Amino acid sequence: MNFKEKTVVVTGGSNGIGKQIIADFIGEGATVYNLDFIEPKEENRTELRFIKCDLRDANQIENAVEEIKKTSKAVDILVNNACFSNKGLLSRCDFKAFNDVLTVGITAPYLLTMGLMEIMPAGKSAIVNIASTRALMSQADTESYSAAKGGIVALTHAMSMSLSGRVRVNAISPGWIDTTGSSFSGADCSQHPAGRVGRPEDISRMVLFLVGEDANFITGENIVIDGGMSKQMIYHNDEGWEYKKPCHENNIQNNKIDT
Ligand SMILES: NC(=O)c1ccc[n+]([C@@H]2O[C@H](COP(=O)([O-])OP(=O)(O)OC[C@H]3O[C@@H](n4cnc5c(N)ncnc54)[C@H](O)[C@@H]3O)[C@@H](O)[C@H]2O)c1
Repeated sequence: MNFKEKTVVVTGGSNGIGKQIIADFIGEGATVYNLDFIEPKEENRTELRFIKCDLRDANQIENAVEEIKKTSKAVDILVNNACFSNKGLLSRCDFKAFNDVLTVGITAPYLLTMGLMEIMPAGKSAIVNIASTRALMSQADTESYSAAKGGIVALTHAMSMSLSGRVRVNAISPGWIDTTGSSFSGADCSQHPAGRVGRPEDISRMVLFLVGEDANFITGENIVIDGGMSKQMIYHNDEGWEYKKPCHENNIQNNKIDT
């Protein structure tokens, strides 16, 4: 794929999956804006434009949009990647902490889309939102993150309707993606039907496919990339799976939740 002459905006591109997405777009010739509140460590490439932006703050998002519009006539691709977790009920995640996750995970992608849509060339542009398999399944104490991820999946199909004919909008739901370069063995790998833990390039390759010409009949979709983990049927004592009662259940019954 060739992304020469294309301008791409990526959020949360200073680390992890976003950093890989940026490297792949630059490798294909694109000019990329990285909106993050942490400066990237290596940043001396002219194709990369860093805008410091805390996505919890609507004013900073507005300023970033203005800066992009001042320096580029068009944005062809928007990748809403940044997110984080403030846990949930068992950690007593409060009003502000909960809303901060929703703001970064849902409101910022909405505001960036609204701010940039008028300079996204009609019929040739695309948005990819990074969701999570946690939009579809959960562990305990993950409410802030799971709610944000469920929200971004719904926002994806809603925006694909509002922007139909102009901008294709899709989501990717990663499973466990190691962003530390660690090596894994044993159950960490074999619990994935694909036999390994995910890597950032598993996600970035799909981002580049979804925004390219070959995907021009795909919009409103959520693509799960998790090595098959969420397709695994789990029954106690079948196929080597064993259920153990989680300790948080005992703690709730005994009213012993940490505050
Ligand atoms: N790594 C995984 O296993 C995994 C699994 C499912 C989904 N995801 C999703 O993939 C995306 C990237 O995850 P990652 O593992 O690379 O995360 P990461 O923590 O390594 O990187 C996230 C980036 O977002 C930035 N960011 C966080 N809050 C911000 C804010 N308020 N303003 C601006 N920037 C902010 C951080 O500075 C960081 O550079 C996230 O949406 C995450 O939820 C990751």
